[in-house]
Amino acid sequence: MSDLKQQVENVRSSFGQAVASVMATDALQELRVRYLGKKGELTTLLKSLGKLPPKERPQAGEALNALRDQLEREIEQKKQELTRAEDTAVEVGDRLDVTLPSRGRAVGAFHPVAQTMHEIVSIMQGLGYSVALGPEIEEEHYNFECLNMPSWHPARDMQDTFYFPDEKENAPEGKGQRMLEERMLKGRMLLRTHTSPVQVRSMLQYGAPLRIVCPGKVYRRDNDPTHSPMFNQLEGLLVEEDVSFSVLKGSLRELMNGFFERELKSRFRASYFPFTEPSMELDIECVECSGKNPNCRVCKGTGWLEVCGMGMVHPFVIRSGGVDPERYNGFAFGMGLDRMAMLKYGINDLRLLFDGNVSYFLSGRDV
Ligand code: DAH
Repeated sequence: MSDLKQQVENVRSSFGQAVASVMATDALQELRVRYLGKKGELTTLLKSLGKLPPKERPQAGEALNALRDQLEREIEQKKQELTRAEDTAVEVGDRLDVTLPSRGRAVGAFHPVAQTMHEIVSIMQGLGYSVALGPEIEEEHYNFECLNMPSWHPARDMQDTFYFPDEKENAPEGKGQRMLEERMLKGRMLLRTHTSPVQVRSMLQYGAPLRIVCPGKVYRRDNDPTHSPMFNQLEGLLVEEDVSFSVLKGSLRELMNGFFERELKSRFRASYFPFTEPSMELDIECVECSGKNPNCRVCKGTGWLEVCGMGMVHPFVIRSGGVDPERYNGFAFGMGLDRMAMLKYGINDLRLLFDGNVSYFLSGRDV
């Protein structure tokens, strides 16, 4: 191989290695200068053409020009690759580290309350319950009367209600007036204060036996740091023949242990709800301190958390649902999903659930 041919091959292979190890556009520019600049390796070879014997020049010239074309092509190709990578990669100072992981994309996620709802529903589905839904704009009749809370009942005050304005004054003559009279017979319209009206609606629709859970939004005239005027509940109802209180206790223990993914101590405390008799409330062991911290901010040092109201369905309610209370009995329970989400996911401020900033829930992720 002639001297020049050997040199062409050397330049080709040293350039090949150099270009492969280039990681940034400025280093590529330096490489171009080193080979194709005024004093570049290839330029020097081109200049040396004149020293060759004339008959060797055409062939050597052709080889050098081909090499120059090749280098330019490869530099251009590399440049495009690098600009594409630099557009998406993370830059460290003025250096580029293409080995860093990419920034990633913020992907959608369920809201913690929705997540909680899905988890509880799926545990209850495992126990044979189906999901039933009811309207958020409800009739006084289903929200209160059917649940053994007539208008004089003091428990109605416990659930300060958003009523729709009484249309009496503005009602048009004729058809409007008739619609209004019908409405007055059924009672006023309101935003449901609990998911319990779905108990009666479901019995009327499906009859007995029946096992349902009803998740959904409820509304009360509350607005302070620990109460929001809209919150989420989940209602459960089982109506069968010869249902005992122990089935209720077993089912709720199963639900709590399943939801919190561990065996928790629980206790049932006597309580009062107009729609159940007897009525109880379920307390579970504090999920934060297990009763070990007298200053615990979650259980306030009591060691217990109140999580769910329940009881054996009052015969009045069973009858309101069109089911024979002589033949069927059952139990019902109701819990706050927002509270369950806060307990499980360690959220200590209710207002965070209504905040638009998702970064709190994607801890450590920059969004
Ligand atoms: N409706 C009750 C509330 O909003 C919760 C509740 C208590 C539901 C006992 C029930 C029950 O089904 O049996 O506070």
